[in-house]
Amino acid sequence: MAAARELERGAVTAAQSWLCWSAWLAPGDGRTDLIRAACFRRMQDVDSYARALESARKKGVPASQLEQEVQLGRILAGGLPVDDSGQIARLLEAGLPPNEVALAFVCGFLNRDEPEEARRVLDAWAADRPDEADVAYARGIYWDYLSEPAQAEADYERALARQPRHEPARMSLAELFERQDRLEPSYQQYAEWLTRAPGSDRAIAGVARILRKLGHIEAARAVLRSVALAGELPAAVAVETAQIELESGALEQSRRWFQDACWNPDEDRRIRNSAATAFALSGDMSLADKLFAQADAAYQRLRMTGDLQVRLAIRPGDGKAADDLNRLLQASTAAPDETRLFPPDTDTVELSKYDSSSASDLYARHCSDCHGVGGNGEGRAARHLFPRPRNLRTGKSRLVSTDNAVATLGDQEAVIRLGMPGSSMPPFEELTESQVRLLAEEVVRLNREGMREQFVAELRSEGDEIDEDEVREVVELSTTPGQPIQVPRIGPLDAEAADRGKDAYFELGCIKCHGNDGRGPPETLQFDETGFPSAPRDLVVDPLKGGRQAEAIYLRILLGMPGTPHPGCLNVPQAQLIDLVQYCRWISREPERELTNHQRLLLASLPATSHPDAGAAVSLSETAPDVSPMP
Ligand code: HEC
Ligand code: HEC
Repeated sequence: MAAARELERGAVTAAQSWLCWSAWLAPGDGRTDLIRAACFRRMQDVDSYARALESARKKGVPASQLEQEVQLGRILAGGLPVDDSGQIARLLEAGLPPNEVALAFVCGFLNRDEPEEARRVLDAWAADRPDEADVAYARGIYWDYLSEPAQAEADYERALARQPRHEPARMSLAELFERQDRLEPSYQQYAEWLTRAPGSDRAIAGVARILRKLGHIEAARAVLRSVALAGELPAAVAVETAQIELESGALEQSRRWFQDACWNPDEDRRIRNSAATAFALSGDMSLADKLFAQADAAYQRLRMTGDLQVRLAIRPGDGKAADDLNRLLQASTAAPDETRLFPPDTDTVELSKYDSSSASDLYARHCSDCHGVGGNGEGRAARHLFPRPRNLRTGKSRLVSTDNAVATLGDQEAVIRLGMPGSSMPPFEELTESQVRLLAEEVVRLNREGMREQFVAELRSEGDEIDEDEVREVVELSTTPGQPIQVPRIGPLDAEAADRGKDAYFELGCIKCHGNDGRGPPETLQFDETGFPSAPRDLVVDPLKGGRQAEAIYLRILLGMPGTPHPGCLNVPQAQLIDLVQYCRWISREPERELTNHQRLLLASLPATSHPDAGAAVSLSETAPDVSPMP
């Protein structure tokens, strides 16, 4: 009863603690599981909800009581019966709390894309009980659905003013801020939630996640560690820990945490995607591939299950839907090996697929999850990464060494072996020389194929004849490297040369993008060849994509970085170029700054001078190594 009372206020975590007592005092009483199900329903945790119902059924809760909860769940999921007025009356007569019933109908109509109907229920409910926190909360959901974040925010705030312990409203508000990238207010909401409901694993995971996004990796770790000490780890917390390790580059730990996060096969699509990214980043493409496939399959199953449940709710006599549903549910429980993350023997089985060492096999194994099949840059890990993986078909190489700024086979080999520090392009140190050569040739082949395709498409769209000879010539011209640049000897660091370099740095306009002191921010937003934002390097603390050796910096300054705003300086005298190199090396500091993909995206999209909401960019760009909380 205490749990039910807390739940009515929306204090889900408190309700759950009462339920723990209740389960301890009377382990066989299924009513505990029934209320637990209601808690999960309120937090929209579909799979835990289903498990709690199943447990209640096993413990022999009367069918009529179970049926009411199931109906409420189906209504909420959008499986509304046709005559809702009769249905509402029946549920109320059966003794279900009026707010729960009304809320289920509002959400149910929204889930069926019928906002006018939702509005009708909402207005009637509000006329009846104008001061309820639940009404304001439901109205927030309604505005959220209509993509009116300002109104949604106001209503969630209203719900919380009426009932500060209303956890669904707190969660919705925090998530709303998070979706808008308003990380500070989001953090405040998660933190407030955690203060009021210290046991809530979703609040803990939320606090840690925002801290991570803000770059306070150590603080995030500390929050999570406090839970880890307290005993068994909730999946949400384990997953967040894995994510933090992933973003801070500790791939082994990340893998272990993902491994530890025990989860239900149906609810883990996002988790699997993150785990798959961890494996992709650690170069384990075969496992990553498998996980991505599993995530897709789980998503399909989830959608089909939902559809069938809706059909059954509308027409309970639909025998075919019932059969299909049963088969699906059995499939997801009866094949644990299929759905387990780490089936014991698959590594060897999967790897045999890649035994052959042809260029395309090597590419499929090591590169395609980021660079995509055929090199189109749309691999399955791509959307998690910033900068995005290069489109190897039509994108330009950044790290070049010839007078026409086309990469040589040697340039490609170097970038595969060394990676591009400060991006997700990893170094492939473990590959043999001949494997690297094959991959570099594959990159060149994909590029020729892509350039050809692009040129032919251009001719077609202009209605021009396709002249094979002309096509070949254009492709040759745009993909054949010119003469290698002779890099002069650049001596050890030298204060006088660096001083002259500083003058050149101002004179040549480097300050426009790299700022007076090499640290930015740029005067205007910069974009790369594909239209993505492109942040000028922070020359003091960022790693350099081509490495910090003097020769590499010389090439970058002389030839520019094709496809990015960073220009070449072909007309600048060699002596001045050497001074510039000396200046860049003079101001660079150790240790290099490590940013997550998310932080890089933030920095690139919000230059401090031109963005109205520049707080985040400023505080991030100030994460110099001496003040940074990051490792
Ligand atoms: C984890 C994701 C990931 C994997 C795996 C990966 N790359 Fe990349 N790669 C990137 C990203 C991201 C960039 C773009 C970096 C940038 O622009 O700063 C990139 C850039 C490149 C470039 C452009 C180099 C230049 O000079 O601009 C080449 C070539 C390349 N990758 C080849 C490969 C090959 C070959 C493999 C497999 C052996 C591979 N990559 C594997 C993410 C990846
Ligand atoms: C129009 C803006 C712009 C100007 C002007 C500019 N840069 Fe850059 N610079 C960039 C951008 C953007 C990048 C990062 C490109 C990328 O990694 O995709 C960059 C990258 C760099 C790098 C990093 C190379 C690496 O290996 O990662 C160096 C060094 C550099 N710039 C030096 C200079 C110097 C010296 C000048 C003046 C001669 C200059 N830049 C002028 C925009 C600019």
